[in-house]
Amino acid sequence: MKYKAKISSFGHYVPKKVVNNFDLEKIVDTSDEWIRTRTGMFERRYAAKGENTSDLAYNAAMNAIEKSSVKYKDIELIIVATISGDHSYPSTSCLVQKKLGLKGIPAFDVSAGCTGFIYGINIAKQFIENGTYKHILVVGVELLSRFLNWEDRNTCVLFGDGAGSAIVSRNERGDISEFIDGDLEADGSQDDILVQPAGGSAMPASEETVKNHLHTVHMDGNKVFKLAVKSMQSSCETLIKRNNIRITDIDWLISHQANMRIIEALGKKLKIDSDHVIVNIEKYANTSAATIPIAISEAIETGKIKRGDMLLLVSFGAGLTWGSALIRY
Ligand code: UT7
Repeated sequence: MKYKAKISSFGHYVPKKVVNNFDLEKIVDTSDEWIRTRTGMFERRYAAKGENTSDLAYNAAMNAIEKSSVKYKDIELIIVATISGDHSYPSTSCLVQKKLGLKGIPAFDVSAGCTGFIYGINIAKQFIENGTYKHILVVGVELLSRFLNWEDRNTCVLFGDGAGSAIVSRNERGDISEFIDGDLEADGSQDDILVQPAGGSAMPASEETVKNHLHTVHMDGNKVFKLAVKSMQSSCETLIKRNNIRITDIDWLISHQANMRIIEALGKKLKIDSDHVIVNIEKYANTSAATIPIAISEAIETGKIKRGDMLLLVSFGAGLTWGSALIRY
């Protein structure tokens, strides 16, 4: 390793429109009580008509840039993690590059479901450590409200729109901040428990696929729930062991916000005090690749997370994919 990496800043953006559980009661056979007790969610945001994934990503990117001393012209690579991009191609990262006016620098998307942001920052870390780049913009963004089946109460109440971002930079001598370690894992044999079945080469769009809601999120919630807790626990333990730290060294656990019960079960298994766990699921529901950077960015804004704090980030999602990151902010 030639250099060390760090995170210069986090940013986020959520659309203005707020939809709460009572609003959903009017659309689908559900109740505030069920959603709240089974998931911990109360509100979520939906993008406005004409507001697209790249717009959310651009706003989150600008927010991270404004909060950092890095000038946007110093950004050398853009990585966007999403499964709900503007198009199948071109990539959403290219659209963000256009909006930022950074013509010429490389840009690519990462498809790792809700683990996308963790994959993105770990990829960025490699480019920093081998000396290729000094500043990389990573965005986790989703606009899943346009990929939901409003006749399926098992899934449609769970997701929201939003974007979170980070600038991954070279750690200069004397910097307290350091991106210490990361862990990435996947299991493609469980491809069918969290999937958008149609729209790809396996099932191209047809009248039939649209009629049968096959362009939307399909999830076996129970299976995903169990695997999420187990996999996130093992990924966190891998980093804790490999870096020879104790759970009490972690100031903040920031886990994917998919279900309050998953977050609590993970906290219990890791034996981390709930006072050290960041939760915002009640406000934004599951924004997939965006949950972690949104939660961190907000917690920095409110003064909860401070420079020098030890952060453990962990996520789980479609693929299946999971992974974590150990960061001294
Ligand atoms: O972000 C990627 C990773 N995703 C996740 O990690 C999500 C993981 N899974 C979960 O969070 C949970 O499994 C869910 C929230 C999706 C479901 O919670 P659950 O406690 O596992 O509920 P269930 O699927 O076992 O369903 C229990 C009951 C069913 O009724 P019956 O069959 O017992 O009569 C469902 O039909 O709850 C019913 N139900 C609902 N009722 C009212 C399911 N969705 C709803 C709803 N409103 N929205």
